[in-house]
Amino acid sequence: MKNILVIGGTGQIGSELIMKLRALYPQGTVVCGYIPAAPPKGILLESGPAEVVDITDPQQIAAVVDKYKIDTIYNLAALLSAVAEAKPQLAWAIGVGGLYNTLEVAREKGCAVFTPSSIGSFGPSTPHVKTPQDTIQRPETIYGVTKVSGELLSDYYAKRFGVDTRSVRFPGLISYTTLPGGGTTDYAVDIYYSAVKNETFKCPLKPGTFMDMMYMPDALRAAVEIMEADPTKLVHRNSFNIASMSFDPEIIAAKIREYIPGFKMEYELDPLRQAIADSWPDSLDDTCAREEWGWRPEFDLDAMTRDMITNLCEKLQIPVLKLEK
Ligand code: SER
Repeated sequence: MKNILVIGGTGQIGSELIMKLRALYPQGTVVCGYIPAAPPKGILLESGPAEVVDITDPQQIAAVVDKYKIDTIYNLAALLSAVAEAKPQLAWAIGVGGLYNTLEVAREKGCAVFTPSSIGSFGPSTPHVKTPQDTIQRPETIYGVTKVSGELLSDYYAKRFGVDTRSVRFPGLISYTTLPGGGTTDYAVDIYYSAVKNETFKCPLKPGTFMDMMYMPDALRAAVEIMEADPTKLVHRNSFNIASMSFDPEIIAAKIREYIPGFKMEYELDPLRQAIADSWPDSLDDTCAREEWGWRPEFDLDAMTRDMITNLCEKLQIPVLKLEK
């Protein structure tokens, strides 16, 4: 049986991960931990328990862990990269202070902990093409600093206290359920909304800006599979490179045009996001994840594009486009 607490449960990842975990572990309890500013709604609220869990308050985490006999915590609370630059102190308080609170509760109460890291944990001095698993991590964003700190702290708690911490470095995540908030890779979500609404997309990044991206179903599967992996096979823990596709704005726009030929994109650069994107890898090497726990992505750019367009049309009540080429 699994009793799981998802902190940051109403965010882009959490809102979908909770539904997947509730389906996977029907005998267990999957608690949606949220902050009052972002309460759960609809099916997320109706399908299971929800509790206020502010990650900066260790007592709140501990109380919910006790109440539901939680054995696994998915710590998804974070400020994304661009918004974190506007609020670096809060980004640290949530990203590192919050993780410390979570790890301490996990140490005392024997929980496993998943905390995502990111392509943002790398920086300008990292090799940018096929970035290796173990390489230079000197990020220049506060988001990246919190992610590298989180990787180190999580490994420390595993080695020093035996806390079962595991993690993957997520690429930019693309989904149609809940919008990301304030990241550098958000453009790759926003572009689909503009396309199905027949609006001209204003792209904040210049042509040639390559980053790793992933469709949400693959990301959710990675989060579950790493926590289910046989621990004796894990050489690494915090955190595994995972990858499925790498593209720049021109490539994703061209792919969308295969299905929506009239789609228009203009460039309106955001200097902050451009600088962040330029400091991140173009593509990650995920060999270790493939070898140590059998990671395999299922969606490529074409499959993701078809699925995004179909689902966004339904969500936005736009007549569903015929997707035959
Ligand atoms: N999607 C994140 C961001 O853009 C990176 O992990 O901030």
